[in-house]
Amino acid sequence: MSVELAGNVAVVTGGGSGIGAALAARLAAAGAAVAVVDLDAGKAEAVAATLPGGAGFGVDVTDPVAVTALVERVSQEMGPIGVYCSNAGIGAGQGLGEDEDWERSWAVHGMAHIHAARAVLPGMAERGSGAFVVTASAAGLLAMMQSAPYTVTKHASVAIAEWLSITYGGDGVNVLCLCPQGVRTPMVSASVLGETEVAASGEIIEPAKVADDVVAAIVSGTFLILPHPEVHEYEKGKVADRDRWLAVMRKLRARIAAS
Ligand SMILES: NC(=O)c1ccc[n+]([C@@H]2O[C@H](COP(=O)([O-])OP(=O)(O)OC[C@H]3O[C@@H](n4cnc5c(N)ncnc54)[C@H](O)[C@@H]3O)[C@@H](O)[C@H]2O)c1
Repeated sequence: MSVELAGNVAVVTGGGSGIGAALAARLAAAGAAVAVVDLDAGKAEAVAATLPGGAGFGVDVTDPVAVTALVERVSQEMGPIGVYCSNAGIGAGQGLGEDEDWERSWAVHGMAHIHAARAVLPGMAERGSGAFVVTASAAGLLAMMQSAPYTVTKHASVAIAEWLSITYGGDGVNVLCLCPQGVRTPMVSASVLGETEVAASGEIIEPAKVADDVVAAIVSGTFLILPHPEVHEYEKGKVADRDRWLAVMRKLRARIAAS
């Protein structure tokens, strides 16, 4: 299932920074009118101002009323939404984290995708066309040893994307799941997912490369987007022998702790 980008309307959450800002730019370059959405309205508007036909919106994606209102407003003012990138994310909670880290992580990496799916997928299914991109993480297939809340809630993001693909894929809706390792964005330079720790797991790539991969997957209709192809091998190793995989991860954790 391929989705035409030229002349289509795209929404990108977390679009004020990092991967979301690169996605918004790449979708606009492919001819889409992009609604850039972020908790920080100023950042959303600043990114939108650089895009032809772009519009910025300050919305908290964990608020279902605000997400429904956003989808209605974009649909009325810009046209039916053909691409929705549910990309906003947070790095919260070292180790086992605090209850508040878990609540925020569940809200952003879990319920935000559900609020968006409820608001946007029925319309796409009715039109028989659309792309719904969930930004998860390689941590959602494997593990991010610095943070249990991040790892566990990103596994939820992957499961949500799979469930949505099973449920809506037959209606012409292309659900995709983005699972990068390290990407050079403000999240990685922040304290929770520190750059040194992320670099220990593999190469840190640029957001523009991730955006190119997402657009290629939207066009080809491929579910799993792995900007670091080695993640596929790691996942195969995990499924083939979990005890061995856990032993390797313990060694990596010790190496990160020592660095
Ligand atoms: N950077 C990486 O290495 C990496 C790797 C794998 C996955 N990811 C995922 O990619 C996505 C984008 O992350 P990034 O690296 O660009 O980080 P970033 O911090 O640069 O951007 C995230 C954006 O999301 C916004 N946001 C957070 N909570 C929000 C909310 N409740 N409502 C609306 N907007 C909200 C922030 O304001 C921020 O602008 C996230 O889901 C992240 O978990 C990042």
